[in-house]
Amino acid sequence: MNKLPIWIDGDPGVDDAAAIMVAHDAENLQVVAISVVAGNAPLEMTTKNALGLCEMLGADYPVYRGAGKPLMRPYEDGAEFHGADGMGGATLPETKRTAESEAAWDALYEAAKKYEGKLEVVSMGPLTNIATALTKYPDLKDRIHRIAIMGGSVTRGNRTPCAEYNIFADPEAAQIVFRSGASIVMCGLEVTEKAYLTAEELKSVRTSAKGEFYYQASKHILEKNLEAGHPGFCIHDVCPVLYLSDESLFGGEQAGVFVETQAELTLGKTVCDLYSDKQFDVKNTFVVLDVDREGFVRAVQHALLDEKTGGSENGV
Ligand code: RIB
Ligand code: CA
Repeated sequence: MNKLPIWIDGDPGVDDAAAIMVAHDAENLQVVAISVVAGNAPLEMTTKNALGLCEMLGADYPVYRGAGKPLMRPYEDGAEFHGADGMGGATLPETKRTAESEAAWDALYEAAKKYEGKLEVVSMGPLTNIATALTKYPDLKDRIHRIAIMGGSVTRGNRTPCAEYNIFADPEAAQIVFRSGASIVMCGLEVTEKAYLTAEELKSVRTSAKGEFYYQASKHILEKNLEAGHPGFCIHDVCPVLYLSDESLFGGEQAGVFVETQAELTLGKTVCDLYSDKQFDVKNTFVVLDVDREGFVRAVQHALLDEKTGGSENGV
């Protein structure tokens, strides 16, 4: 089977962890590398978590460190949801591996050249690393296939009433990405808040070591989601990965999306013309709006229950 080469950039992070496990499990995806950014937890912690997840999966995906703070604003963590360690207090295996010496943005550019336009980029944290790469290498946008983002929203927010966390954390970086001319798929809150596992569905994966780890990691964030009125744990970051693996599970529309970086009340809002009479001049983004939740649950449970461990045929 021809596998899709994917580069995963994120801030593991409890839902980032599920996304990495789903990517590892997907038969038609080849994880080329994981790059990390400060977000849910500081860079040191997201780096440690990415390496620990690879150890738990028995995978040797190279891990590249990126930005320790947003392009222009102070860093704000996501400990309220993900805990100080970014993993809800759950314990990942120790590893002797360390992150690669090359910076995330430089390694991403090398991978894009190697995969000659086929590389799919998943962004599931603040977009600082991706924006830095697109700025340093103006031809990168033409050397990757798509950027599948977990971030933003057409109508709502989870960090403010207007803004989703990944965009709010670094709005200038997000604006660079949406203005870049790259082919963008946006999995915003409209779809990711439909992509949840109930408490019972999470409990069902406790029969495997990975599943028990994940059940422990997600307990707190599940409670926070239930308190907010969601029917379960919205595993946001799985959506862009699963979209690349099986688009048939999702629905959406092409639209114009750009980011508010100046205002105070609406800072970090992804302004989308989907429901507006007045449209932007370009429809730069495929906005994902719906997911087959049963198919989503099957994919997550398969990834968490599967005892497959194994390396990877990757290399940048
Ligand atoms: O708003 C959800 C996003 O913020 C997810 O990527 C989660 O990991 C946090 O980073
Ligand atoms: Ca994330």
